[in-house]
Amino acid sequence: MIAIGADHGGFLLKEEIKKHLDEKGIEYKDFGTYSTDSVDYAKIAYKVCKSVTNGESEKAILCCGTGIGISMAANKVKGIRAACCSDWFSAKYTRLHNDANALCLGGRVVGAGLAIEMVDVFLSTEFEGGRHQRRVDQITAIENGTFEE
Ligand code: RB5
Repeated sequence: MIAIGADHGGFLLKEEIKKHLDEKGIEYKDFGTYSTDSVDYAKIAYKVCKSVTNGESEKAILCCGTGIGISMAANKVKGIRAACCSDWFSAKYTRLHNDANALCLGGRVVGAGLAIEMVDVFLSTEFEGGRHQRRVDQITAIENGTFEE
């Protein structure tokens, strides 16, 4: 299951991504928003990310105008590693090297074609582990207040 959500700035992109997930038969849960009416992105980020951290969803896809605000909010949820991406290489490598579990996209930044390519590579790329595991563990230690310099 993929958890998906957007504010008004990312709503139209979210709808395009949902169409693509439907075509590919990928199961998702849409946490809103459901129109272009103004809504606060932090509320959406929280609900979507909780679906990941409580085990209901494997990964999150989040859209706002820039992808930035919703990624900042997502990264405050313990256990979330959210990456705001505008290019395919970053969407791939944030899975390979950072084990990102949330992809954040800007509906006012990227077109649907590129966004869908990024979604596909993000969802199909496995974390490489190895030396990258140590670095991800360091991020987790910072989050937990147990990081040792
Ligand atoms: C909403 O106007 C806009 O600020 C929001 O979608 C996002 O871009 C914030 O980072």
